[in-house]
Amino acid sequence: MKRVAILISGGGSNMVRLLESMTGDHPARPVLVASNDPQAGGLTKAAAMGVPVAAVDHRPFGKDRAGFEAQLLEHLDAARPDILCLAGFMRILTPDFIRRFEGRMLNIHPSLLPKYKGLHTHARALEAGDAEAGCTVHEVTAELDSGAILGQARVPIQAGDTPDDLAARVLVEEHRLYPEVLRRFADPALT
Ligand code: GAR
Repeated sequence: MKRVAILISGGGSNMVRLLESMTGDHPARPVLVASNDPQAGGLTKAAAMGVPVAAVDHRPFGKDRAGFEAQLLEHLDAARPDILCLAGFMRILTPDFIRRFEGRMLNIHPSLLPKYKGLHTHARALEAGDAEAGCTVHEVTAELDSGAILGQARVPIQAGDTPDDLAARVLVEEHRLYPEVLRRFADPALT
């Protein structure tokens, strides 16, 4: 059975879907949900689902990313995850941190990578006049939003869409895609 930790920064709707998926014959179980924001709504949801939670506020660390990560790693080391899932985790991680989880860290990004790495993906897709948008689950490497693509889902862009409309349409697909990819990734027969 693979042990999965999830990092979040906000409401954690993707995290909830991942937690819900890890039951029955699923090859993984959640061991920790951690956030850089002690107020993140997802922490309450995870705790209500019986999953251990931790928060390390990044703000007192200022520009000291390594200091923040060292404290986060204390929680992660104690939880001994085999797989680390970023689910709406909005802090850039250092190469040292990423190396610790090389080949076993996943992220969901709200665009059809390699298009629109970084922020404001939906506004950028609309501005470009794209006909479709979507989301990508990929392995995390030191270069932002650039690791191996493990799965993608597409949605049409409709006339008059706002970034919020598009975000809502893409999020529905995120909720389906991320659990599907995690299951595949965690399957001992496949890894
Ligand atoms: C999701 O749309 C996710 O793809 C995005 O943040 C949202 C989190 O929602 N992630 C990024 O932009 C990462 N750069 P959630 O907290 O409800 O899962």
